Amino acid sequence: MTILVTGGAGYIGTHTLVELMQAGHQVVVFDNFCNSTPAAVLRVEQICARKVKIIQGDICDRQALTQVFTSHQIDAVIHFAGLKAVGESVAKPLLYYRNNVSGTATLCEVMAEAGVTRLVFSSSATVYGDPQHLPIVEDFATCATNPYGRTKLFIEEMLRDLQRSDTSWRIALLRYFNPIGAHPSGLIGENPAGIPNNLFPFITQVAIGKRESLSVFGGDYQTPDGTGVRDYIHVVDLALGHLCALERIMDKEGVLTVNLGTGQGYSVLEMINTFEQVSGRTIPYQIVDRRPGDIASCYADPSLARHELGWVAECGLKEMCRDGWNWQQQNPTGY
Ligand code: NAD
Ligand code: UFG
Repeated sequence: MTILVTGGAGYIGTHTLVELMQAGHQVVVFDNFCNSTPAAVLRVEQICARKVKIIQGDICDRQALTQVFTSHQIDAVIHFAGLKAVGESVAKPLLYYRNNVSGTATLCEVMAEAGVTRLVFSSSATVYGDPQHLPIVEDFATCATNPYGRTKLFIEEMLRDLQRSDTSWRIALLRYFNPIGAHPSGLIGENPAGIPNNLFPFITQVAIGKRESLSVFGGDYQTPDGTGVRDYIHVVDLALGHLCALERIMDKEGVLTVNLGTGQGYSVLEMINTFEQVSGRTIPYQIVDRRPGDIASCYADPSLARHELGWVAECGLKEMCRDGWNWQQQNPTGY
């Protein structure tokens, strides 16, 4: 198949390109590089020893998107393109609604005009807000606590409405938990601009000497050691989940909403300890106040993904730390 990958130059996009190409698919990348670089796609070419078609463009640009569908025979779309910084979304909500929600609406309109109705969408565990029970099952109530999260919720609803209006649409809404790590080759990985918002890239930057120490946000949560618990998933496992979702929507109508997580939660201190063991580096840290908006614990019930997609995350925390550290060491300043 030929798959259009919006946001394909980004962190999860590049890892998914590798798995798609290694499974024999053709890919077309559409990205405006607002949070990435074409160099990342060149690394994908290096891993796969194949050229990748890259188109620089914005999902809000209807003409540019239409051009993609008229010049390529696209069978399905994996839609990663979006802005994802929670703090920025609070400061600039309209930017997030325009880019994420309106951009997705434009993409779907252009897809419909081209007769392409297979779509895999990047949603997030953030749509569960602060869950009342754990592990998190897909039919839990949804709620969002910031504009970024609301864009994911609104897009999910918009895509369900779209499918109700035209049942030829087949859509997978993939709710990612916390992707970390990198491709085992060390050629592609997460490349945050500026100070990392997320735990794992912050730890690797402390380990490489780029930052002095880690602030652990909160030591008084109702968790075994008081620090926040999350379901970290190896980015290659996550990428493979997209392939399974793609195959699944090719032969099943409707909207499939599914968690992509491991089902196992780890605390911030457990993450630090595992990273120290794997890397042989010490991570200096201090426990500071909670980060506003954070929740105590979040981990998936991944059974629906196993039943519906035949997908299970294979890698453990040590492999995530090993591969993420390998990427950081090989690319101390990113791409
Ligand atoms: P990323 O920023 O590395 O990748 C997103 C890509 O989309 C970037 O290459 C960026 O340049 C591109 N992009 C953004 N807006 C665009 C636009 N208007 N037109 C064209 N390209 C555009 O992020 P990622 O971590 O790879 O995340 C991919 C998707 O997964 C996002 O939608 C994100 O919200 C979602 N997600 C990520 C996480 C996570 O922890 N990384 C968790 C849950 C969901
Ligand atoms: N943390 C620290 N110090 C840091 C960064 C994070 O202690 O410097 C803690 C957080 O308090 C939390 C845990 O590490 O307990 C994980 O934090 P991340 O920022 O790495 O991840 P979140 O779970 O907060 O959020 C991420 C994405 C969201 C997405 C969510 C679920 O940033 O966009 O996963 O997919 F919605």
